[in-house]
Order: sequence, then C-alpha cells, then structure tokens
Amino acid sequence: MTDDVLVVHGGTPLQGRIRVRGAKNLVSKAMVAALLGDSPSRLFDVPKIRDVEVVRGLLGLHGVKVTDGDEDGELVFDPANVESASTDQINVHAGSSRIPILFCGPLLHRLGHAFIPDLGGCHIGPRPIDFHLQALREFGATVDKTPEGLHLSAPNGLHGTKFALPYPSVGATEQVLLTAVMAEGVTELRNAAVEPEIIDLICVLQKMGAIIKVHTDRVIEIQGVPKLHGYTHRPIPDRIEAASWAAAALATRGHVEVLGAEQADMMTFLNVFRSVGGEYEVTDTRPPRPGQPGQEGGIRFWHPGGELQATALETDVHPGFMTDWQQPLVVALTQARGLSIVHETVYEQRLGYTEALNSMGANIQVYRDCLGGTPCRFGRRNFKHSAVIAGPSKLHAADLVIPDLRAGFSHLIAALAAEGTSRVYGVDLINRGYEDFEAKLADLGAQVERP
Ligand code: EPZ
Repeated sequence: MTDDVLVVHGGTPLQGRIRVRGAKNLVSKAMVAALLGDSPSRLFDVPKIRDVEVVRGLLGLHGVKVTDGDEDGELVFDPANVESASTDQINVHAGSSRIPILFCGPLLHRLGHAFIPDLGGCHIGPRPIDFHLQALREFGATVDKTPEGLHLSAPNGLHGTKFALPYPSVGATEQVLLTAVMAEGVTELRNAAVEPEIIDLICVLQKMGAIIKVHTDRVIEIQGVPKLHGYTHRPIPDRIEAASWAAAALATRGHVEVLGAEQADMMTFLNVFRSVGGEYEVTDTRPPRPGQPGQEGGIRFWHPGGELQATALETDVHPGFMTDWQQPLVVALTQARGLSIVHETVYEQRLGYTEALNSMGANIQVYRDCLGGTPCRFGRRNFKHSAVIAGPSKLHAADLVIPDLRAGFSHLIAALAAEGTSRVYGVDLINRGYEDFEAKLADLGAQVERP
C-alpha cells in the first residue's frame, strides 16, 4: 500500500487536452462477445486498463487467441479453438472484475458448460447477481452454486424466453443479449437497460449476424440464430472518463478539452454541468482536406470564473444522470454556492466517499431519505443514499485512501482542488478504468509525483 501512493500538490487549475478511448463498460463486453463468433473479431480503440487485462486473461484461458493489431489500441480475437479452462486457472481472476459473469451465455453456447469465479468490481453496495441467474435459468441453464464459484450447464440447450427485469440492470441486460443471440427461438426482454454502451453492444452483435430489435419502452426482442461470425468495431468513447475530466476541470477552476468525448452520450451530464455554472463547447471532427490536416473533435470544459451554483440531481438509469458521474461531480459541487442535493438511486452505498471530502473541509451530510426527487428502492431500506452539499468550502490537503474506482477519481480531484499537499493511497485502483491517468494529469499540468 505504501508504494501505491501519489503525492498531489493541489491548487493548480488543470489546463490542456487529453483523449478518451473506447468505453470501459462496452469494450469489456465486446471482448466477451468475440467468444460467440466462428471467425476472428477486431476491436479498435481499446484502452490499456486493468479490466481489459482481466477479460483478455479469461479469454486466453478459454482458448481465444488475443493479439495486438497493427493500430495502437487494436485487439484481434481468434475464437477458433475455444476450450474449457480449469477452475483453478479461472479462479486466479476471482475478485478482480464483474465481467466474468457475462461469460455464462457464450460459454454455454460454445462448450455446454461454464465456470464463473467469485466476482469483484467496486465495493459500492451488495451488487447481487440474482437477475443474471434468474435470466439464465429462464433460458434453460442449470446453475450450481459452490464455495469455489458457479457451475452452469445447459443439458437441453438454451431456448428463447419472455422475461422482465425487476430493474433495468445494465449487466443483466447484457447477460440476456449475449445468451439470447444464439438461443433457439425468440427472446423478449422487458424493462431492459438502454445505456449507450448496451446499444453499442447490440451493434457489435448485429455485425456478428444477430437479429435484435430495440422497441420503445425498454423492450428488446432477440431472434436467436444458429451461428455468428466475427466483427470489426470501433467502440463508443468513454463517457464516464470524459465526465470525470470535465468535473476535474470545474473543481480546479481549469480548462480541459476531452478529445473523443461524444455529446449525444453525455447530454444529461452537459445539462447539469451548465446548470451549475460550468461552460463547455462541442468541437467537431474535421476530416483532412488537401493542404489542411484533419482535426479530432471532442468537448472543451471550463470554469468561467466567478461562483458555481448549487443544484439538485438524481442518479438514474439512462437517459438519467449516470451514477458513475456522481462522485467526480460532487467534488465540484463542494465549490458551488448554496445547498446541492444528490439522490443516488442506482447503488445503495455510493456516498461513503463523502467522509474523505469532509475530512478536507467539505460540508456534506448524508441521509437515509429520498431527498429532492422521487422515492426510490432504497428509501425504506435504511441506506444513506442522499447527500446535501453545502458550499462553497475551501478544501485543504489530507491523506486519503481510495475506496473504489469512481470514488478514487473523486479523491484525486479533491486533492488537485485543495490547497496544500495530499497523499492519495491506493491510486493503482484508478488504473482499472482510467487509461494512463498519471500521464494525462501531467499533460494537464497537475503537480503530482510518486514519492
Ligand atoms: C454497470 O454495472 C457498470 N459496470 C457500472 O460501472 C455502472 O455503475 C452500472 O452498470 C450502472 O450504470 C460495468 O459495466 C462493468 P447494474 P452493473 O446491473 O452492470 C442491481 C464503473 O465504475 N442489481 O446496472 O453491475 C444492482 O445492485 C462501474 O465503471 C441487482 O439487484 O450494474 C444495482 O443496484 C461501477 N441484481 C442496480 O441493479 C442483479 O442481478 C444496477 O446495477 C444485477 C443488478
């Protein structure tokens, strides 16, 4: 732990330009989808982050040859020799990511059985997998829970089904998609998640030969096909990373251009960013012309000077305000005049990180009530899931320990915005989802060093 520390000299506005690559929460799923093809797939703009390494390792264990392509960030997947892996080998990846649960459908189709290790991911609540298992059983899979992990089989094959999710879970919707595309017959999924990353996964599967209709009102219909082939795909950019840098620009009174950021996927964030007093400009991509170089577009985010204004927001499934945007933005809200209210409705325990911000001088109170919005699933269940942020507060340096990925980035932003020198422990966790974040900090003029 002591080696894994970043010393942050705060108080300098972040200024400059960085680039985001393919969305972590699409790329990892597209990698799993490659298992379903009977020919190689090619994925571009893959960020070098820990989650990608975990999925690459798991694919390798199951006989998928993963190689680097010619372009930086290009991966090629050859699923010609998909095979079983031993539980010991798979268990090496236990606790490192939540993606392994998505291997269920593809492995059942390819091998007739699957072993899934204990899952990991961020500690932001219990994060059950009951919807996933319920859906898999609906398709005809049998699930055997053992102390070492889950053993699944499909003795009578997988068959299309009609199924409604109790909540529009991103992962469970992906589970259904990755299973239904090659199940026999038609699947109708109601109350599905429709995040841009899901739509992009549907694009990947469609390129592979799947037949998927997205109806209105969160209904997705999938007609199973007996065979899928490989895909070539350039993923949507990482809208969580883009918003994280935008929040960092606002909290440090800086100016950051995020190349690759896509307006359409970030509309809800952009509305909130503007309503608290941040400025942004969308810059278009220009292809090269004779005598003129091309230019990559993105979004420039900046603090226009003066004071930020408090706001009330509620996290929600798409098209609502993403839960993953919440923690970075709250740091900027500590600098806004008045009382801001944040109602977290996606995860029941995603406000614990505010204690660290309070230790730096922020004034944030957390409540069990559903504040400022509609009652949510957590209102009567004793979870502190609403926050009131009184600002502006002068932040001062502190020693911080990073609890999870997005909260970790918010700690980092707080340290950058604070006066004085902070020590941020456990920063390696940020590499799970932010490519080269230390190099990007340097490009933005942050005063950080490894001791
Ligand atoms: C994905 O997690 C993302 N992870 C999360 O990003 C993101 O916060 C989340 O979607 C919501 O957008 C990946 O894509 C790898 P869910 P996922 O299933 O799929 C409950 C990040 O930092 N639920 O939509 O696991 C669950 O407890 C990460 O990049 C069940 O009750 O999220 C939660 O309250 C963090 N039973 C809600 O649904 C289930 O079987 C939404 O979870 C599944 C979920």
